Amino acid sequence: MAEIYEGAVDKGLEGVVACTTGISSIVDATLCFRGYTIEDLAAHSTFEEVVYLLWYDRLPNEQEFKEFSSTLHKEMALRDDLVTQLSSLPRESVHPMSWLRTAVSMLALWDPDANGQDQQSRDRIALRLTAKVGSLVALFERLRQGKSYVSPNPEKSFAWNFLYMLTGAEPDAEVEKVFDTCLILHADHELNCSAFASRVTASSLSDIYSAIVSGIGALKGPLHGGANEQVMRTLIEIGTVEKAQEWVKNALANKEKVMGFGHRVYKNGDPRAKILQGMSASLTKKAGKPELYEMSKVIHETVVAEKGLLPNVDFYSATVYYSMGIPLDLYTPIFATSRVSGWLAHVFEQYSKNRIYRPRGHWIGKEGLKWSPLSNR
Ligand code: COA
Repeated sequence: MAEIYEGAVDKGLEGVVACTTGISSIVDATLCFRGYTIEDLAAHSTFEEVVYLLWYDRLPNEQEFKEFSSTLHKEMALRDDLVTQLSSLPRESVHPMSWLRTAVSMLALWDPDANGQDQQSRDRIALRLTAKVGSLVALFERLRQGKSYVSPNPEKSFAWNFLYMLTGAEPDAEVEKVFDTCLILHADHELNCSAFASRVTASSLSDIYSAIVSGIGALKGPLHGGANEQVMRTLIEIGTVEKAQEWVKNALANKEKVMGFGHRVYKNGDPRAKILQGMSASLTKKAGKPELYEMSKVIHETVVAEKGLLPNVDFYSATVYYSMGIPLDLYTPIFATSRVSGWLAHVFEQYSKNRIYRPRGHWIGKEGLKWSPLSNR
């Protein structure tokens, strides 16, 4: 009996439908946000517009877009007293995702709306969070380099501002566009692990900040958002195109996972990986590191040939970020910078038709034990 339950239940809820949702859908290899394909959005939209779409279930008109973007960009600024407090947090040997988890939790203490349950308070929190997660990531990097906080320019896009606040230099239009596309690709993804974690927390009617901190914690793991950083570490470890095939074969023979491959839902390929593959090819070339793309291709072909697994969103995003000069351990925080918008859409959806998540566990432990005093054990 115990084995039957372990086989059926302890498999990461594979195939279990845990809720109804109207935010993003995956059908075979097609991903849509609110009915629009990811290819369409990546080619024609902006991150700001996609955030609006995820939250309000439609694309904004011109006026709505202007107002929404302008508020979002203004909200990217961090208060001086918050920057001072954050500057005092430990950074040595701290993973930026751990720092971000704490920093986002701290944001709530400065937010007068933090516990507001009315729609206006929730809208303001959502804007603040989406605006500020990226600013926190940028601040972490500035602080660890011994540099000071850079204020955003509300006239510029979210993507432009993130890169500017990170480096202190104005990004060129091509880099801004590439980064904006990365943000769009990562914004939401149906009932992934971190969105589910956010929804579970929201289902107790806890506050939005708590739900988002749950999402950050779940995204951090190497089986979820943490995979993109591990992909780049793998490429660096392999070192040359010539060594790639043998490295993959050895890893698979040793039953190791090759990061950036496989997916619970996509069995015929992740559409985001296809878009990122093209971006990786051109950006690695532009950065004078075409061998990184060549190496990725050999890994890709070898994993397909040996294991039949296709790359997921994390595989080619690693070389895209590397080519942009972004430090490896910021890849997952950048994922969070975008995905916070999706978590918020899920939290709103959860609140709108809530029932607390409270599944059962099938008992497989010991039974009927009698307590005995310490001296008898
Ligand atoms: N490399 C090598 N083998 C892999 C693999 C990978 N990246 N992903 C899955 N497999 C293998 C497993 O070892 C297992 O093989 P087995 O049946 O011989 O034991 C089989 O494929 C099923 O894998 P499983 O881990 O049970 O699939 P899952 O649906 O539970 O997990 C992922 C999905 C994404 C967590 C999994 O594919 C993975 O760990 N990938 C690497 C991490 C990653 O890139 N995460 C980002 C996801 S977007």
